[in-house]
Amino acid sequence: MAILEAQNVTREYRMSAETIRALSGISVAIEPGEFVAILGTSGSGKSTLLNLFGGLDRPTAGEILFEGKSLRPLTSTEMSRYRLRSVGMIFQTFNLIPTMTARENVELALAFAGLGRSERRRRALELLDQVGLSNRAGHLPSELSGGEQQRVSIARAIANNPRILLADEPTGNLDSHRADEIMKLLDDMRRRDGRTIILVTHDRELANQYADRIIRLKDGSTIE
Ligand SMILES: Nc1ncnc2c1ncn2[C@@H]1O[C@H](COP(=O)(O)OP(=O)(O)O)[C@@H](O)[C@H]1O
Ligand SMILES: [Mg+2]
Repeated sequence: MAILEAQNVTREYRMSAETIRALSGISVAIEPGEFVAILGTSGSGKSTLLNLFGGLDRPTAGEILFEGKSLRPLTSTEMSRYRLRSVGMIFQTFNLIPTMTARENVELALAFAGLGRSERRRRALELLDQVGLSNRAGHLPSELSGGEQQRVSIARAIANNPRILLADEPTGNLDSHRADEIMKLLDDMRRRDGRTIILVTHDRELANQYADRIIRLKDGSTIE
């Protein structure tokens, strides 16, 4: 069974004068353990689709299914739980809290896991170690390079051990050497931990190099 599926999904944004159709009835299925790239130019609907998969947004029409069940009936509390437990998200701009250290940023994601304070601290350090950053735990985001910040955000994304990692242009702000390190880390998480990886990118070369399969988007539709 697919771990994530979009069935005939449309997402429209109603603006004052017009309606923008970001996704036009698209259907895609992602199998467990796959590394899939969603490839398309700017404005093709990639982030819109990823946000629907991540439970940050809901479709105008059609269904998003996680493990065969539609997300539609979920209340906002249940949707928050889905975001916390089932999917980890990584963004181009890292989205770390600037006033918190690397360790505190990761601990924040563990705050709802019912762990005691010392256990949270131990687990956060273990996660930072997994992304090769145990020696930067006390640094603020501003004291870290872009590649290091992205690794903190990956540690945060896997904090609650989600089966799926959703990455929206995760290397868009990095030079090619750092980009490669991040992609290898994502690949490790698939190979070692069996996570499903969905990578959104406009970089065809990156998609070809790392993904098992490429889904192409153009103007809100999939193309072959
Ligand atoms: N919140 C929003 N309100 C209005 N239009 C939006 C919004 N988000 C995205 N769009 C529009 O939807 C289309 C797809 O955007 P997006 O999914 O961000 O594309 P991509 O990630 O491929 O660059 C674009 O035309 C964009 O301007
Ligand atoms: Mg985008």
